[in-house]
Amino acid sequence: MTGFSADWLTLREPHDLRARNPEVLDAVAASLGPLSSVRLVDLACGTGSTLRALSPLLPARQNWKLIDNDLGLLARAKATELAKHATVTAVLLDLNRDLEAALDGPVDLVATSALLDLVSETWLDRLAVEIAARSIPLYAALSYDGRIALTPSDPLDAAIAAAVNAHQRTDKGFGPALGPTAAAFAIARFEALGYSVAHGASDWTLGPDDADIQAELLAGWASAARDIGTLSLAETTAWLSRRRHAVAGGVSSLIVGHVDFLAIPSATR
Ligand SMILES: C[S@@+](CC[C@H](N)C(=O)[O-])C[C@H]1O[C@@H](n2cnc3c(N)ncnc32)[C@H](O)[C@@H]1O
Repeated sequence: MTGFSADWLTLREPHDLRARNPEVLDAVAASLGPLSSVRLVDLACGTGSTLRALSPLLPARQNWKLIDNDLGLLARAKATELAKHATVTAVLLDLNRDLEAALDGPVDLVATSALLDLVSETWLDRLAVEIAARSIPLYAALSYDGRIALTPSDPLDAAIAAAVNAHQRTDKGFGPALGPTAAAFAIARFEALGYSVAHGASDWTLGPDDADIQAELLAGWASAARDIGTLSLAETTAWLSRRRHAVAGGVSSLIVGHVDFLAIPSATR
């Protein structure tokens, strides 16, 4: 599975839903609650995870604009069954090139999930400036923040985690990625632009019952470590084999750190 494949996004969605920070979600619902109808843009919607997480919490009349550069993912997102008064428009667009077009028109909330850690400082700054120029709130969920905790511990865990975090900073199509520093950078940037920001942890806490996603994550981390090359191939392969053994034995747990935030222009609070 790749980072953006439908299979991977489907596998992670229930864990994302469980992890979303409840106080930040409450703040999103409260900020839109007084409106009789809401217009939302979901940047890099994938298969529609954020649409499905947010829609039940919002006023019944909803108009969603879903943006992605992958037609197959957009088609899946658009097929989401929603309550009667919610409508969805799917827009194929490259957010690196055409971010401003994604924000065009009246919008009550920009939402995104698992995107900000993929983007560069330059792009995130552009996003903050464009959103602030329009005085729109931003709900950004599930930005990876660099924390990985594995049980049982292994002597190579720290070296693998360091390699994963180095890999997170490589270019994912938006220039050199902010990776683990993305949420902190975005929060500081929005505060500097006069926004109030509510934020909190949205960690994945994966136990022995979550063997499928653990296996995918561990394989992905080993692959990232191979790309970075700070460990030998033999070390990485042996680490993955030990960790797979722990997953198969029902004794493996993982915590993967994420951050959610809602940034609201101060004047609208
Ligand atoms: C990690 S996935 C997150 C998807 C979804 N938001 C979720 O939480 O399940 C990243 C998403 O960004 C999209 N993406 C990557 N580069 C993009 C670009 N340049 N323009 C638009 N979408 C892009 C991918 O197609 C993918 O759907």
